[in-house]
Amino acid sequence: MTYVVTENCIRCKHTDCVEVCPVDAFHEGPNFLAINPDECIDCHVCVDACPVNAIVADDDDYPNLQEWIDLNARLSKNWPVITVKKQAMVSAESWKDVPNKRAMLEE
Ligand code: SF4
Ligand code: F3S
Repeated sequence: MTYVVTENCIRCKHTDCVEVCPVDAFHEGPNFLAINPDECIDCHVCVDACPVNAIVADDDDYPNLQEWIDLNARLSKNWPVITVKKQAMVSAESWKDVPNKRAMLEE
């Protein structure tokens, strides 16, 4: 099992999640974060830390979840680890809860 970053993170990237992760499982891309499934220990604490509810478990009911599971696994291999919170993206407020952001994910 693992936890997975999903669509609401795109163009928001609040990064509260990275500070609470006990195993440094978060990796940072241009406008999205990904969790390394080999590092995640399923502690759940990042779920409540995200102000836009972007993190789900891989057995939660979430649309196209397998695509997000695959994205987290692939992108976390390419991106550097992030462990310190930074300012959210300047676009965060305007992109909060906007649907269909998948195409805007920058790799
Ligand atoms: Fe880190 Fe726990 Fe979130 Fe997994 S569930 S990414 S171990 S904070
Ligand atoms: Fe993204 Fe939420 Fe973390 S917006 S960076 S998953 S706190």
